[in-house]
Amino acid sequence: MAIILGINAYHAGASAALLIDGKPVAAIAEERLNRVKYYANFPALAVRKCLQMGGVSFKDIDYVAVGRDASANRAKKVEYMLKHPTKLLNLVSIKKSRSALDDLRSQFAEKCGVDPDELRFKQINVEHHLAHIASAYFISPWEKSAGFSMDGSGDFVTCMLANCEGNKIDVKNRIYVPHSLGSLYTMVCKFIGYGTYGDEGKVMGLAPYGEDTYAEQFEDMVLMTEDGFELNPKYFLPFGANQGMTITEKGSMIIHRHHSDLMNQLFGEPRDPRSEIQKRDMDLSYGLQHLFEKGYMHMLNVLHRMVPDERVAMAGGAVLNSVANGKLFDQTPFRETVIQPASGDEGLALGAALYVSHVMLDQQQRYEMVDSYMGPEYSDAEIKETLDKKGISYERLDRDAMLRVTVDEIEKGSVVGWFQGRMEWGPRALGNRSILANPTLDNMKDILNARIKRREWFRPFAPSVLAERQAEIFEHSHPSPFMMHVYKIRPEWRERLVAVNHVDNTGRLQTVSREENALYYDLIKLFGEKTGVPVILNTSFNENEPIVCSPDEGAECFLRTKMDVLVIGPFVCRKPEAIPAV
Ligand SMILES: [Fe+2]
Repeated sequence: MAIILGINAYHAGASAALLIDGKPVAAIAEERLNRVKYYANFPALAVRKCLQMGGVSFKDIDYVAVGRDASANRAKKVEYMLKHPTKLLNLVSIKKSRSALDDLRSQFAEKCGVDPDELRFKQINVEHHLAHIASAYFISPWEKSAGFSMDGSGDFVTCMLANCEGNKIDVKNRIYVPHSLGSLYTMVCKFIGYGTYGDEGKVMGLAPYGEDTYAEQFEDMVLMTEDGFELNPKYFLPFGANQGMTITEKGSMIIHRHHSDLMNQLFGEPRDPRSEIQKRDMDLSYGLQHLFEKGYMHMLNVLHRMVPDERVAMAGGAVLNSVANGKLFDQTPFRETVIQPASGDEGLALGAALYVSHVMLDQQQRYEMVDSYMGPEYSDAEIKETLDKKGISYERLDRDAMLRVTVDEIEKGSVVGWFQGRMEWGPRALGNRSILANPTLDNMKDILNARIKRREWFRPFAPSVLAERQAEIFEHSHPSPFMMHVYKIRPEWRERLVAVNHVDNTGRLQTVSREENALYYDLIKLFGEKTGVPVILNTSFNENEPIVCSPDEGAECFLRTKMDVLVIGPFVCRKPEAIPAV
């Protein structure tokens, strides 16, 4: 029996994942526990929580797999640093975190309060993008597929193409820093006032409001080559191996300026994040997304030439671009995707652990990831205790009654906090830590924004749809269980699905099958039977914070915001003023 703990540490999205005999049993990002978004230091709480969920202790760990290998691609790094001596400073901070990782035993002792003599694990470092690809391929049911990873950068690589077969990942091509479509995206996002780590998704939502005004300038930013691409250095400041980002004392990420003065000459001053969005910013978003898609499809087509398979396993921060994912079936020969739900760097913990299990220890049995519910869950008794402590009144209902009441509330326009079972792994709420609403009400988007989410006006809300009804409502039938594809909504459904139909008539859907989440499936089915619409609006359960994890955080969010109803386990809670007369 092998116990493998995977970690991503001293890097954005610090996280931990646990495999027992090759089977993923627990995975969680540190941000959900310490409440610091994209926390980038040591995942001490996540490690503890994973061990607790798996029922094992520190001394049981055989291997610690780290999704980072500083010795990988060293020659390329040295070559780059010699060309850009000002970037040598970056190496200091990178070395600091590297030496902490080199001394993992004392990190565990210090941060988790364990006796280092108890620890007998062997540490294995896995190159960043190999961990990304492993996180997708080894959760697929496939014995063979293409493997694709793309992000800002990791271990000096920005994109990796691979052939995956059996327990092997054979790298076919790497693109190195500074040529990065992920960093290009980050650069333009910061230029138009979205400079917080993880803001790229917001700009993806803004893009369809823009027009193709800057086609020529964007065309000049990236040169597509036979088997890769190159950024035009005129537009960028050299940003070195740390991606032009640093980590604060509190463990948050700071993104530094990436754009050159030429950007200011061409487009004017960068937008102040507090100012209104102008047409220029929308047009820049449009140009950026368009160029990104072009580069993304180019690399996928290069991959298909090298690995002529119809299936591709994908991960990496850039793979969260669900708009591009929705188009790849039309623009590349790939016909099936498996995308790791935690495609950002928190997924490295799971990927590194799966790599060690399959590639290094030759684990034969594969555990397909059917759902993403790998986080903590709480008993009814624990939930009840929380509600009592907070003075929240509730009604405890059986399953059928609870579903009926929830559907009634959603139908009549209530905003419902829905907290059930194990928390999702990855950035998407997929029906266990979600806020649910009626997608057919034309004011629902504004209600959600005004009352709870306080998000930018241009960001769409997502639809969860019964898997078997997907093709009738959306123009693509390839399932998207982890909300990783954006598809066009069919014309006859656009008006009805007004609260989830984006300005370009698309939706970033979650397909829900009974096998993945029986309770959530039954809820949508019942809503469909009652209204004729087998779709529920699903947004993450939070208010400008990491998604809630514990009942305490769920209850706090319910009390703090203007959420109408909280359905937490079997308990249906209403605000005092909303208690019906009968
Ligand atoms: Fe990454």
